[in-house]
Amino acid sequence: MISKFKTLLLACAAATALGLGAPAYSQAFPDKPISLVVPFAAGGPTDVVARMIAIPMGKSLGQTVLVENAVGAGGTIASAKVARAAPNGYTIFLHHMGMSTAPALYKKLSYDPLKDFEYIGQVVDVPMTLLARKDFPAANFTELQTYLKANGNKVSLANAGLGAVSHLCGLLFMTQMGVELNTIPYSGTGPAMNALLGGQVDLLCDQTTQTVPLIKDGRVKVYGVTTLNRLTALPNVPTLNEQGLTGFEVKVWHGMYAPKGTPAPVIEKINAALRAAMQDPTVKQRLADLSSDVPSADKITPAGLKTHLEAEISKWAPVIKKAGIYAD
Ligand code: MLT
Repeated sequence: MISKFKTLLLACAAATALGLGAPAYSQAFPDKPISLVVPFAAGGPTDVVARMIAIPMGKSLGQTVLVENAVGAGGTIASAKVARAAPNGYTIFLHHMGMSTAPALYKKLSYDPLKDFEYIGQVVDVPMTLLARKDFPAANFTELQTYLKANGNKVSLANAGLGAVSHLCGLLFMTQMGVELNTIPYSGTGPAMNALLGGQVDLLCDQTTQTVPLIKDGRVKVYGVTTLNRLTALPNVPTLNEQGLTGFEVKVWHGMYAPKGTPAPVIEKINAALRAAMQDPTVKQRLADLSSDVPSADKITPAGLKTHLEAEISKWAPVIKKAGIYAD
């Protein structure tokens, strides 16, 4: 009898080791809070999106989703941290298109976006705005162009580090304008915005998830939006495209990831919670107020994110190589 019991125990241990115990484990998931890692500083646009969806996701999952900011190196520190985390569903990750530019920007990357993650789904598409501190001399985009041509690198342009979208948007702007500005990196555009509001830096290209309320309150000067069409949230702000920067377009896509090896049933549960959060009326209204788009249902899926990430990596690699920009 004892030996039969021992055999059963050994069989159970072997089944667990082979992953055959996964369904029971997945049914119990989640039985403790989940950490949602954000690769930029608190208060910035990625953090705003994470905190907006963490609450409804937590409601769906029956557990708190805690936002954890792991900052530095344009988001690559957080990506490496998540790639090494236990693949159990208790660590998930919200990152933007920096996930697709890092492999080309960083010669030495300690993780592979295409091998070290499970994909949960795309999250939101966010336009950007070109801003200046309130008392910056140029009153409009025409004056800005003249001012930058005359003052060049005396003008400071904040960003959130190499590979951040504020960095990429700034690079695109300087290239199209033919000017070289004095770029200053921060751990996110949350702190970069504080520097702009405090008058310590002159310019910043930043996402509408952070900038719309500040523009509406007149706390910053705005020169243009980075989409080809004007935004409903800022109808009086012209596009950079219509003001002469032909084809200037930056829209920031976001994705949610988990470490490679996270069981498929766990990914399915998190994906269901993400889809529910993206349909939550409060989230939808807030995103609409910030002119940010909820992706179509087929994109809020593991396959939708994987396909998009692969396409974006292929798109950015030659562009970055040609520009000769490297972070290390
Ligand atoms: C942030 O949350 O700070 C931004 O997404 C940073 C950036 O990429 O510009």
